[in-house]
Amino acid sequence: MEKEMVVVLDFGGQYNQLIARRVRECNVYCEVHPYSLGIERLKDMGPKGIIFTGGPNSVYGDGSPRCPEEVFGLGIPILGICYGSQLMAHMLGGKVKTAPVSEYGRTEVEVGRESVLFSNVQEKTVCWMSHTDYIEKAPAGFKVTAHTPACPVAAMEDPARGLYAVQFHPEVMHTKEGMRMISNFVRGICHCKGDWRMDSFVENAVRQVREKVGKGRVLCALSGGVDSSVAAVLLAKAVGKQLTCVFVDHGLLRKNEGDQVEAVFGDKGIYDLNFVRVNAQERFYSRLAGVEEPEEKRKVIGEEFIRVFEEEARKIGAVDFLVQGTIYPDVIESGLGKSAVIKSHHNVGGLPDCVDFKEIIEPLRMLFKDEVRRAGIELGLPEHLVNRQPFPGPGLGVRIVGEVTADKVRMVQDADAVFREEVAKAGADKGLGQFFAALTNMRSVGVMGDGRTYDYAVALRAVCTSDFMTAEAAQIPWEVLGKVAGRIVNEVKGVNRVLYDCTGKPPGTIEFE
Ligand code: XMP
Repeated sequence: MEKEMVVVLDFGGQYNQLIARRVRECNVYCEVHPYSLGIERLKDMGPKGIIFTGGPNSVYGDGSPRCPEEVFGLGIPILGICYGSQLMAHMLGGKVKTAPVSEYGRTEVEVGRESVLFSNVQEKTVCWMSHTDYIEKAPAGFKVTAHTPACPVAAMEDPARGLYAVQFHPEVMHTKEGMRMISNFVRGICHCKGDWRMDSFVENAVRQVREKVGKGRVLCALSGGVDSSVAAVLLAKAVGKQLTCVFVDHGLLRKNEGDQVEAVFGDKGIYDLNFVRVNAQERFYSRLAGVEEPEEKRKVIGEEFIRVFEEEARKIGAVDFLVQGTIYPDVIESGLGKSAVIKSHHNVGGLPDCVDFKEIIEPLRMLFKDEVRRAGIELGLPEHLVNRQPFPGPGLGVRIVGEVTADKVRMVQDADAVFREEVAKAGADKGLGQFFAALTNMRSVGVMGDGRTYDYAVALRAVCTSDFMTAEAAQIPWEVLGKVAGRIVNEVKGVNRVLYDCTGKPPGTIEFE
């Protein structure tokens, strides 16, 4: 799979992951590496193309990031984007300066149709600009291939040397024909065949895991979430019974979730592996008794998880490898390609550090979330597991305001199940990033039948978001909300009121703790 690869050299731009995503959308494997990656490592990787990202610096700034000079002479096509384009111009003898007018946002760019980079792109096309410096004069040997009224060199190229540069950002969706430009680069200029597929990923990953593990024993902390489930299935396919999955049911899962995980991975499941389900509900509830502060709750849940996991790991004994479901955004965000350590952040607060492992296996560390889902489907995981919503490691512990008790868990589980069922039935889940029920700490008076009630209020939360960093409250149709509220009050004992949360993020968060 690595045979045909494009390397993105990261100069600190905001969109570095997006560039890699776009290249992979062309079915070409792509990795992001820091700009400081040495020339020898780069040559060893043998990429078919290199992309320089944008970045916040000016090429004239003190210590501004640069690439080795030799990179331009490798004969490997390079596409410089924004800062990357200015760096290329600057290092090869062109002129970069502060633009008299900064361009931000959608800008109409006039492109030269004879350039392979712009093949099948409209002559006037909308691109996303975000720059204060610009290339005033292209280096010798380069031809200017695009401009705007305010930017004389919006693109330039020296096809003989395989060097291409664009001032705008083809990777963002606001650049209308950006995907075509990236495809033109990887296919038309780098001559990649585009044979990167999930089935080849799975096949290769299985082979690599087998080689690494040999006859060793492997342990996987399975949470039932998408990433750890896909990692577990991949390992099961590779090493079968040498794998043991430990699934800690902390009693803070969604309704029936523990059984669903067991149905897939347990003895009667679809995979041949050793599966240990630890029913630790009571243990968690007793540790959580009297704890109200949200951060404290997270800490208690995280620590208890580790203790349970350690105990189970000791029972199994002599485990050589630990599997983690780390995915590519985690790798990039935690400092580019450095391998994760045992104590690194985990869904539920960090994995144990006192259990001896020879090595960590992270089979998904090069995949984006949607690619992980595709790999899951490829591996035969049921769709309902693969396409589930994100669910926090501390689970319902962060969806119950105030103290967590078994009875409150029951209320929130039942209310959440009703909400999810009705939203799905009404087809109102399209476009929702996440939706769930939470239990507030408010009790109020109600009347049911002929009697007075003094019960809890459930809060419904539904948000539209693609990156989960910001979110808008979703506009769920009133009829659906009315039906959900009616069912919850009737069916969930202890709840007499249902509220809908209209807060965005910011100022709220998505979770309700
Ligand atoms: P917030 O509440 O911070 O949530 O707006 C953003 C996204 O992160 C998820 N989330 C977590 N995921 N462990 C996780 O694995 C956690 O401790 C955690 N807290 C929040 C949340 O569900 C949402 O998708």
